[in-house]
Amino acid sequence: MLLYDNPTWYKDAVFYELYVRAFRDGNGDGHGDFKGLLAELDYLQELGVDCVWLLPIFPSPLVDDGYDVADYYGIHEDYGTLDDFKAVVDGLHARGMYIIVDIVVNHTSDQHPWFIESRSSKESPKRSWYVWSETDQKYRHARIIFIDTETSNWTYDETTAEYYWHRFYSQQPDLNYDNPDVQQEMLDIITYWLDLGIDGFRVDAAPYLIEREGTNCENLPETHDYIKRMRAHVDNRWPGRILLAEANQWPEDVRPYFGDNDEFNMAFHFPLMPRLYMALKQRSRKCIVDILQRTPEIPALAQWCIFLRNHDELTLEMVTEEERQFMWEQYAPEPRMRQNLGIRRRLASLLDNDRRQIELLNALLFSLPGAPIIYYGDEIGMGDDVWRHDRNGLRTPMQWKNTKHGGFSDADTLYEAVLDDDVFGYQHLNVQQQKVDPDSLWNTLRHMLRVRKRFCAFGRGTFAFALPENEAVLAYWRQMDGSQDDYAPSGEGECMLVLANLTGENQQTMLDLTAYMGKTPRDVLKNEVWPPVQDGQYPVNLAPYAFHWLQF
Ligand code: GLC
Repeated sequence: MLLYDNPTWYKDAVFYELYVRAFRDGNGDGHGDFKGLLAELDYLQELGVDCVWLLPIFPSPLVDDGYDVADYYGIHEDYGTLDDFKAVVDGLHARGMYIIVDIVVNHTSDQHPWFIESRSSKESPKRSWYVWSETDQKYRHARIIFIDTETSNWTYDETTAEYYWHRFYSQQPDLNYDNPDVQQEMLDIITYWLDLGIDGFRVDAAPYLIEREGTNCENLPETHDYIKRMRAHVDNRWPGRILLAEANQWPEDVRPYFGDNDEFNMAFHFPLMPRLYMALKQRSRKCIVDILQRTPEIPALAQWCIFLRNHDELTLEMVTEEERQFMWEQYAPEPRMRQNLGIRRRLASLLDNDRRQIELLNALLFSLPGAPIIYYGDEIGMGDDVWRHDRNGLRTPMQWKNTKHGGFSDADTLYEAVLDDDVFGYQHLNVQQQKVDPDSLWNTLRHMLRVRKRFCAFGRGTFAFALPENEAVLAYWRQMDGSQDDYAPSGEGECMLVLANLTGENQQTMLDLTAYMGKTPRDVLKNEVWPPVQDGQYPVNLAPYAFHWLQF
């Protein structure tokens, strides 16, 4: 099977974000590892995953779960060896699946030998690999991201009596991208991993590479210049491999990260995510419509990545102050549920474990413009534990069975205990049980993914809102109208209408289907035929939280 025959494979792909430590323990030491993951590749394939994204896999003191890298050329010892990793890469490729890994470009761990050397003296050859200053008064316009723990982006280092710059934890000093050696080193790291056969990277914290006085130190032109170098480097030697941007920014600020097909292939759509939840509580599509109408077109080869949840707190950075308060009140009533500018809860618990709402948001995730990403465990509706340290409550072991530790490991103690509460505990919530139950969340989502894959329009089609009078109804068209890129594998003329009731009550509305007179829509999820369109106005009656994918 030739993986890169279609160089835009990522447009149609379903992504699955996975934390190796949390997925499956293959050697019984209480930590998930590559052996464990290898044993579950069939599971991922069965679910319908096309591309796996791994959280950082490098040696790390784990102050920030691997986002504090101590060696970019190694594998964390808990996860196994480089050969174990290669077996996972080969295993995925053999199944026609892809793999991208997180690369932390902006900063390293303070335990990285580069930083140890850098901080050792002002004359050290690695001094200028990091951002040092005599004062902590520079770059005052840069916001602090981890506001719960950090009070400044500068930390004083006694050895040389200077401050070093960090956008995240103080144990994560920022690399200095004004230094050409740093720029080159990161390209060498990219080379190393692509040569090992991976299909690309999720590029962590992309907006913060460069600092300039008088700016907020985000999205600077010099940062974009470097990303262009990265993309050219990848495209030249490894066509078909991708760079996915983590740029938690407003749509108009993310748009430049796609460049002119010469920066990122993909970028997360951060502002859309909280609005999917907000729309439910506001009982109105308005916020979703507003943000997507505000989203600029992206280049032909680019694709959004859309998601409901990930390994971080549900970020509320890309909302207004008022919207953030609303989200906190609605979805994080207990103070402990809040973290930084976000909410440390998983999808199912945010939605009160209500199957209808969980399915509804997934139905939107799988049909809105972009490639969907599933966060491991959300396919079975795993819960969280807000009382654990930092974001650990969202990173608990995958629940495979109703046996000891949820079948994750046979060790006595785990890196983090499996959930065992009354609602979300492994005893009643696990993969094994859901796979045999045809009505389970797992089987329902798997069915949706299979249907999604039959229609190119979801990954590549044009997008347009239908705006019926009733604002509780979200409706949009996905269509293959010939304007798509040349790589669309099929799907000519496909025309889909997605309907969703954002409320827990019945909703009626009229759709203007004048352009579809005489057509008979078919609900492709339920495989049901709807009444033909007889005159322009088409009445619809939607059950609580109902959704339909109608093919015309
Ligand atoms: C990204 C990661 C987050 C991490 C941070 C610092 O935002 O998603 O988990 O803490 O970068 O690397």
